[in-house]
This record gives sequence, structure tokens and C-alpha cells, in this order.
Amino acid sequence: MPTIPRAAGVDNTISFLREAYTFVSRRCDKLGSDLFTTRIMLTPVVCMRGAEAARIFYDGDRFTRQGAMPQTVLRLLQDKGSVQGLDGAAHRRRKAMFMSLMSPEGIARIAELLERHWRAALSRWTSMSEVKLLPEVGHILCRTACDWTDVPLTEREAPAMSRELQAMIQQAGHVGPGTLYALALRRRTERRMRRLVEEVRAGRAVPKDSALATIARHEDIDGALLTGEAAGVEIINLLRPIVAVNRFIVFAALALHQHPAWRQRLSEDESWLEPFVQEVRRFYPFFPIIGGRVRESFDWSGHRFATGDWVILDLYGTNHDSRLWEEPEQFRPERFRDWPGNPYTLVPQGAGDFMAGHRCPGEWITIALIQRALRLLCGSMRYEVPPQDLSISLSEMPSAPRSGLVISGVHATQAG
Ligand code: HEM
Repeated sequence: MPTIPRAAGVDNTISFLREAYTFVSRRCDKLGSDLFTTRIMLTPVVCMRGAEAARIFYDGDRFTRQGAMPQTVLRLLQDKGSVQGLDGAAHRRRKAMFMSLMSPEGIARIAELLERHWRAALSRWTSMSEVKLLPEVGHILCRTACDWTDVPLTEREAPAMSRELQAMIQQAGHVGPGTLYALALRRRTERRMRRLVEEVRAGRAVPKDSALATIARHEDIDGALLTGEAAGVEIINLLRPIVAVNRFIVFAALALHQHPAWRQRLSEDESWLEPFVQEVRRFYPFFPIIGGRVRESFDWSGHRFATGDWVILDLYGTNHDSRLWEEPEQFRPERFRDWPGNPYTLVPQGAGDFMAGHRCPGEWITIALIQRALRLLCGSMRYEVPPQDLSISLSEMPSAPRSGLVISGVHATQAG
């Protein structure tokens, strides 16, 4: 069997941390191959990119997420006992529970909640000299997420909860004192969610089809309820990523600022909202890569993937692959106007089938939330973007405009 190329250097941990979003694709380009081997954290790893690699990675239960991510990232994001750590039939059963929350009514409801909380924030923003959108939209989304899941949140608790959820995302790409602090905050949120689950099980009244009740009453493949810890983790696995949509919303606002003709176009013709949102998800950096470990050995593209091998799929590089996207470094929503859809080329939230694999169950609500935010930005408010550092670093994970996107002179243009 022919061997695949090996990237230069004994261990590439430092290059990976420095290059982040472009680490895999740079080496693929240089080596003229969609897959190569190297070492990261002294561990051998196969890196791959492209639509075919995404198909191999996501279809057919070939990979497990167990042992595929550093412990701090795992603990701050999905955590132990979560759907992401399950495989095969056990995964499909838990995943179906998540997907049951993504009904057309559920999607419409979360967009309505976002609008309600956005309008409340807007009346505050009009009296502020400057508004930093990244944390502010995070606060709006924290309230939205709690209402949508039926997790109670008082006015007094809201700021701390929002900061805790935002810290989990911000610190996931770092290692240091901030990570430990974010982990400590997370433990607090986990305890709170566990208590809530126990209260629901003990008879606390919550709407029957709410996310909180669905998770509290879900039975796994063995017919048993989730442990209190696992149920708490899964509630956080809804709250945290909903808050993380603030990054995409800020990128969407940045795109409006840098391509101002789109503001008018979106206001006049709402059918452009979806292509615009898809281009935001393709173009801007969010998750650079995803890791997996081979469950049972198989051969692909001239390589033997042995049980336990560590493999990394390049999500950002696939979204910017010039064989799949014409002029990938240009922001061009038109490319999605008549897009037939392809589960392996647009992969910011994973690839393949929602039910059978690990593709993100929150994709539809992510799209709905960004669309609603864009409607509000274009149709319900006027504002300026003062001079600031709007650069986006491709070596910081997770990335965002450096200034957090500050707006000023906010006016409401439409009554709520
Ligand atoms: C903010 C934008 C989001 C991004 C960039 C994102 C990204 C991703 C990615 C790349 C995966 C695949 C992980 C893998 O292959 O192992 C994933 C899985 C997941 N996401 Fe998201 N996500 C986002 C929003 C959401 C939302 C809004 C929710 C919940 C409402 C959510 C819940 C989950 C869960 C539970 C999984 C694990 C699924 C599984 O293992 O089957 N995500 N997400």
C-alpha cells in the first residue's frame, strides 16, 4: 500500500497552535495531498481535508470522539456523558432526542424569542454611547436559550450565567489560568442544571415538550434515565452553543459593514437572507477542525487507518477548498442562491447525516437565529461602526473581530 506524505518537523504542536485554522490546508497544498501524517502533542495523527474526507469521517460509524480531543477542550465543550461521546446505536438514540427539539415550531419559537430579547436590548442600546456586540448578543442569546429550554433565569442571575457560558467557548481554544477559571465556573453551572433535572423529576411543573423536560425524562438505549450529571451536561450542550451563535451574528454584522450594498438588498428581498447566512457560515472561522479515533480498521485513499488511530478533519479548510468553492476567499452570498445543498462541502457544523452521525443538531436553529438577527440589524435599527480593529486572527481559536465589533449612535427604526 502506498504511504501518504509526512509533514515536515518531528512534532507540529507549536505550528498547529500558531497556524490554527490554516494548519492542515497549508500542508495539504504544499504536499499536494488531501491527507498527510504528522505528530501533535507527540501523538501521531492523520490530517485530512476536502469533501471526500468529510464523507469518510462522518459516514458509517468509522470514528469515535472518545480520546480524540484534549481534556480541557472536552470538559469545556461537550463534556463526559454527552451525546458526542456515544457511538453506534446508543448515539443514534440520544441524537434522536436532540433532533426532536428541532421541529419547525421549535425553530420558529427560538427566532421569536431572540427578537423579543433583542428589542428589549435595543431600547437600552439607544441610550448607550457605544455597544460591543459580541458580549451583548451573547447576553441576548443567553436569555433566548434559557427561555427556549425552559431553564429558569432571574434578572439577577442572567449576567453571571451569560459570562459563564461565554467563558466556556472563549477558553476552549486556550490552555492556562483562564481555562481553569472557566472550568470552575462550568462546574457551578453543571451543579445548577443537575438540581433542576432532579426538581423536574420530582414533579416541578414544566411544559411537557420543553427541552428541559425532554432531557430530564429521556431514556437511553438501556431504558434508563440519564444520570443527573449527564442530563445536566446535555442541557448545557444546548445553552452553551446557542450563546456561541453570537460569533456568527457578529460575523454577519461585520459582513454587512464591509459589504454595505447587502444591507439594502437584504431589506428589499428577504429571499437573500438564507444565501447570506450560508456564506457567513462558510466564510468566517469558527471550529477549525474536528478530531476522531478509528473504531475499526479500514483502508482509504492509499492509507490503512488502524483501530485507535487519531485523525483530524479540516473543517475550515474544506469550507475554503478552491476545488469546491470558486474564489473561496471572496465573500459572495450569490454562490448559495441556487445551491442544491451538499452535506460534505459546507461543513462549519460537521458533515453527513444529522440522525446517523455526529453532525451538529443545532444547525437549523443556528441558521434561523442568524437570519433573524440580520433582519433586525437591517430593518429595525440604525447605527454607526466607529473606527476600531476589526481584524480576524486565523491563529486564535475561537476567532472573532478583535474589537468585538463596537457600534455607536444606535437608533430604533421600527417599533417592536
Ligand atoms: C454556534 C454555532 C455552532 C457551531 C460552529 C457548531 C459546530 C458543531 C460541530 C462542528 C459539531 C460536530 C462535532 C463532531 O463531529 O463531533 C457539532 C456537534 C454538536 N453541536 Fe453544534 N455547533 C453550533 C451550534 C450548536 C447549537 C445551536 C446547538 C444546540 C442547540 C449545538 C449542539 C451540538 C451538539 C449536541 C453536538 C453533538 C452532536 C453529536 O455528537 O451527534 N450546536 N457542533
